[in-house]
Amino acid sequence: MKVRALGYVGVESPEAKQWEEFGPEVLGLQIVDGDQPGSIYLRMDDRHHRIAIHPGNKDRLAYLGWELAGDDDLAEAVDKLGRAGYEITEGTEDECEERAVRRFVTVLDPGGARHEFFYGQLSLPGQFQPGRPLTGFVTGEQGLGHVVCVVPDLGAATRFYKMLGFKKSDEIYAFIDAHFFHCNPRHHTLALTEIPRVRGLHHIMIQLNSLDDVGLAYDIVQARGIPITMTLGRHPNDRMVSFYVRSPSGFEIEYGWGALEVGEDWTVTQYDAVSVWGHKMVGTSPPGALEEVL
Ligand SMILES: [Fe+2]
Repeated sequence: MKVRALGYVGVESPEAKQWEEFGPEVLGLQIVDGDQPGSIYLRMDDRHHRIAIHPGNKDRLAYLGWELAGDDDLAEAVDKLGRAGYEITEGTEDECEERAVRRFVTVLDPGGARHEFFYGQLSLPGQFQPGRPLTGFVTGEQGLGHVVCVVPDLGAATRFYKMLGFKKSDEIYAFIDAHFFHCNPRHHTLALTEIPRVRGLHHIMIQLNSLDDVGLAYDIVQARGIPITMTLGRHPNDRMVSFYVRSPSGFEIEYGWGALEVGEDWTVTQYDAVSVWGHKMVGTSPPGALEEVL
């Protein structure tokens, strides 16, 4: 079983409506029409949408959409997940239309997060119009970006993702311990960490084609008084230059540029810091507000 990329992410939030401004004006994403009234659908490239914010009672990760190559890989995924004891639910026709994919199946992972394995995402070449002037996002075979999830059991989560075909990129042991995984040339599509009594989505990273795109966003965020959670800095492992901003739905957005890519000959290393420079934490709130206390 081989996940190709992170295709889409869905969250639930009482503050979904705030994304009508935050998505295009701050992040440069495009709001597009979608299936569910009240939900905000955000486009960043040729794909119909990459991020969906659904109205809900609390901020929570609703689903991660993992792209497979096609129907043969989906059949293989169903077989492998079934043999591993996971309960598999087929996405209905209406659900597939809402996600803008041909077909998907869903399972809950050992920590309770919902994963959707899909193929055939709707592609609309030339239709993307950024919410404000920018050079564009790094997507394609690298998918929409990366997610960092807080899991209750790092060992169980690692076994789950290895079953999906993820490979370790590296590990950081600092004020927080995190393990990084790739499934395509993006240095990491996924990172996992444990925080006592907390789980959920810590941040979504979206990567820009130009450092100036990141700098302009940094100015916009400060001019609007939107909370920055980590200042501009460079990570030691993927070499990304980025800053972190609090989204209206609690979790953070890492807005970055300049990450390196990994290949077949990648060697796992470890680091003792999360940043080469910068990335100073701002405020006293704990990392990641999309939290569920266990
Ligand atoms: Fe990140």
